[in-house]
Amino acid sequence: MAELKQQLAADVARIQPDLVAWRRRLHQNPELSFQEHETTAFIEARLHDFGALEITRPTPTGVVARLIGARPGPVVAIRADIDALPIQEENSFAFRSQRPGVMHACGHDGHTTMLLGAAKVLTGYQTRLSGEVRFIFQHAEEQLPGGAEALVQAGVMDQVDRVIGAHMEPGLPVGTFAMRAGPVTASPDTFRIVITGLGGHAADPHRSVDPVAIGVQVVANLQMIVARNTDPQEALVVSVTKFMAGSADNIIPGSVELGGTVRSFNPELRQKVPVLMERIVRGVTEAHGASYEFTYVQGYRSVINDQAVTDLVRRALTQTFGPEAVVEGVPLMAGEDFSAYQTKAPGCFYQVGSGNVAEGITYPLHHPRFTLDEGALSVGVMAFLACISDWLKLADGDFAPA
Ligand code: NI
Repeated sequence: MAELKQQLAADVARIQPDLVAWRRRLHQNPELSFQEHETTAFIEARLHDFGALEITRPTPTGVVARLIGARPGPVVAIRADIDALPIQEENSFAFRSQRPGVMHACGHDGHTTMLLGAAKVLTGYQTRLSGEVRFIFQHAEEQLPGGAEALVQAGVMDQVDRVIGAHMEPGLPVGTFAMRAGPVTASPDTFRIVITGLGGHAADPHRSVDPVAIGVQVVANLQMIVARNTDPQEALVVSVTKFMAGSADNIIPGSVELGGTVRSFNPELRQKVPVLMERIVRGVTEAHGASYEFTYVQGYRSVINDQAVTDLVRRALTQTFGPEAVVEGVPLMAGEDFSAYQTKAPGCFYQVGSGNVAEGITYPLHHPRFTLDEGALSVGVMAFLACISDWLKLADGDFAPA
């Protein structure tokens, strides 16, 4: 077992130049969600080079590769997201984005690279694998409706027993990981409320139905959902982030538009919030003689890690990197469509430390100066290999140390 881990570590060390080259190539050529055509072609070409993989394109962008071992065993899916963000990069290194206004600011270049690295190493062990590794290179994590749902609909999770995925975390030092069982990310729902009153001269408010004054009451009353209508033990955010109305100092406008986001972990609470919201909107607008339109859009489901799979990931990483390298994660109010895979198989989504304070690699995800310590690439690959070698019984194969 120890020899196998050493062998895998040597394999990862050998491909480190590839990892850096792939990541920089991807970083330089970022593509927005649903437009990842070059990225997909790049991934597919690398996968073909590795040999031994069954490669498919279930969606216009995104790639899935299957590595089917010599013996039967579990099917483990590993997912990486491949899309970039509409951000103008402010880094000055040579491999910064060559596309104005588009940037890999969420580390998906690193995720893609780690999964390519795992595929490259594992193809060399095909004859010793019991089971299947399914490599899912997913498009469009950053934009609703997300790519994960489409891939799941296309059947990429069929027969999968377990799914894992990882995300770069600049707040954690390179060489470390964070994970937790239970809720990991929130469901990022959005809403739009249009309140229609009766516009008029600002000097004659009694002749109008003022949607600004009514809208303010709606915003104030929506706070009661978190403050008074739901269990304080359950994390919930109701944020009104848009309040748009008016054109002049002396005109009461005819309508206002509100917008915002609702974030929660608990699926039952999630279903309840829009009902409570509409009750408030209806009540307040009716009370003042206005009318309303209420639209609620559900974002991704909450990522909820399976206890057993999380324990297995923690054990694999602790054995490989030491107990001090694995810390307990905290739930985040951000969204992630990794949750779509978890509707089909138990899974674990964990964080890979990519920060380095001494090197100034401290900017958060989605920041124009975000980057990652490239040491995280090989660490991330080794983490995938540690899980797969444990679960697909690599050590029980005909392995003989070189
Ligand atoms: Ni991301």
